[in-house]
Amino acid sequence: MIESLLAQVPKHIFTCPEYIPGKNPQDIKKNLQSADLPIIKLASNESPYPPPVEILEKLKEALTSLHLYPDPQALSLKQALSEVYSLPKEYFLCSDGSDSLLQDFIRCFIRGPECKAIGFHNTFPAFRVQSLVQEGTVLFLPQKENYHPDISSALHFFSSLSQEEKKSCKVFYLANPNNPTGDYLTQKEILTIFSHVPKSCLILLDEAYEEFSRFFSDFSSGISLLNQFPNIVLLRTFSKAFSIAGLRLGYAIGHPSLLTLVQKFKMPFSVNSLALIAGTEFFKKKNLLLQQKLLKQIQEQKEELELFFHSLKWAFLKSAGNFVCFRPHFSTHFPTEQLHFFLESQGLIIRLLPLTIPPEHKETEYWLRVTIGTAPQMKAFQNSCRQFFLKQESS
Ligand SMILES: Cc1ncc(COP(=O)(O)O)c(C=O)c1O
Repeated sequence: MIESLLAQVPKHIFTCPEYIPGKNPQDIKKNLQSADLPIIKLASNESPYPPPVEILEKLKEALTSLHLYPDPQALSLKQALSEVYSLPKEYFLCSDGSDSLLQDFIRCFIRGPECKAIGFHNTFPAFRVQSLVQEGTVLFLPQKENYHPDISSALHFFSSLSQEEKKSCKVFYLANPNNPTGDYLTQKEILTIFSHVPKSCLILLDEAYEEFSRFFSDFSSGISLLNQFPNIVLLRTFSKAFSIAGLRLGYAIGHPSLLTLVQKFKMPFSVNSLALIAGTEFFKKKNLLLQQKLLKQIQEQKEELELFFHSLKWAFLKSAGNFVCFRPHFSTHFPTEQLHFFLESQGLIIRLLPLTIPPEHKETEYWLRVTIGTAPQMKAFQNSCRQFFLKQESS
């Protein structure tokens, strides 16, 4: 009976790739070397720190009002954002996570194979998945051997488009810094690329990891480009640097006339009342200062981890996010999958990811991505890696 129902679903839905999130503690319990090992999850680039106590108190107070719908306009949050960024509140659209906004904007622009969604290889997979759900044509631009976008290829791609082809470019997606490589484009590189993107093409600039990149002097947020490029929409999240991944909160910054349009078809109440309170509170000066301190700790842990990989002579990609991609390297082999399995047996969940190899991007190789945790979590991670290293060296 269910067959006749499923037969009504458009065919392309069956072939859409699935987004596979990081594993949860219960997924690895059966492979643990010893049942009482603590489980450390460093697989989804969440913050290792819970929200500040004052915010938790505010959330507790709000529990007695959970029978009421939240403000559908998320006005208190928009007001806070407007003050922080010195932009009118009409420039903001809030939602249940930035991936839901990514989906909304793609739904708005992509409909059918004649609509092109363009991005670089080895980027956040939701962009491709959502474009394919809309039956769009997804094109990937190449990276160089170090996984940095190949700017001249991108310029060549955009400048050789005919007028007709320009019109078919509907969305250009760029995650800066990029997940999973951690690589970033400087303001100068961004300007060069964006000035070649057709003016009629939406530029989705995903800045999920922007707060972690402030330690890099040549990184700059795209927010200063909004005047020059009204076709940019920035995507930001509270899931990474703001430690409320579980509440689901993200926001877009862009031209009010486009945001109003998207707001029209968005589900109402997509920001729940707890997320709204936490998000608004995070922008209070005291909480921002605390956040700065925690971001600095994450940066220090990341630098220490890079030195550790260096000491083992393992390959890693320099990262501007709160994660690092790496590969274990022994004289003749890269036992990436074995290390992943070994770490899980030790209670450490990290991510095994296929990257397509530049510049041709015809083959893939597996890398591991570890999220930066607290100092004790990183110590446990390094100890387990060292144990694996010694075992391999002696075998
Ligand atoms: C580049 C990028 N964008 C968006 C997201 C999703 O963030 P959110 O939790 O706000 O949906 C992630 C999460 O991993 C990400 O890496």
